[in-house]
Amino acid sequence: MTKSLTDCALKTAILISGSGTNLQAFIDRAKAGELDLELAVVLSNRPDAYGLTRAGNAGIDTICIEHGDFADREQFDRAMASALDAYAPELIILAGFMRILSPWFVQHYEGKIVNIHPALLPRYPGLNTHQRVLDAGDEWHGSTVHFVTEELDGGPRILAGRLRVDSDETADELRHRVQKVEHQIYPQAAGLVGSGRVEFVNGKTWIDGEVATSPIVETFD
Ligand code: GRF
Repeated sequence: MTKSLTDCALKTAILISGSGTNLQAFIDRAKAGELDLELAVVLSNRPDAYGLTRAGNAGIDTICIEHGDFADREQFDRAMASALDAYAPELIILAGFMRILSPWFVQHYEGKIVNIHPALLPRYPGLNTHQRVLDAGDEWHGSTVHFVTEELDGGPRILAGRLRVDSDETADELRHRVQKVEHQIYPQAAGLVGSGRVEFVNGKTWIDGEVATSPIVETFD
């Protein structure tokens, strides 16, 4: 069901591990009144993540839970969930959160977790995507927002932003261009989920009430 702007915005938690430029894109949209989500809490697994400072500056609650303090992945994830559940999150946004989630965590929040991956999925799951794209001589690269399932970088896709690769550019230059795309498409995709236009049903992405066989694709310079 599509929500109107007057309905309650989805209570949202953002998980980070680092610089948080994507988090900043959400904060900026929210400040501009262009984001129909309530940014309730930011959680990091690293105390030195600069994203915690960004969240604090924006007046958003922050939580830090260090994964190294736990015996295994699931115990860490259960500690995250108890802290997050105090906020009753309806949407969990992974924004550079560098931990693989346990099946327990994914099931606990089934259909409510989204991630952004710096590649045109299903191509290039995993790390080092920019260099791999350059090495392969690909014409197109970009980033993809998808729902999170137990398969790493394999959940159903929502929105992809693509750009043409310049064969002369370095992996760092390409990463920088892709991040600028991410700052556009991630708030846009999360907004589609927040508005109810995009949903996760039976392991698939539904857009405007229909099963999506491919993501929405936008092209950038
Ligand atoms: C992004 O490039 C995203 O694709 C990947 O992690 C990076 C996070 O960057 N999942 P930042 O912390 O948002 O700057």
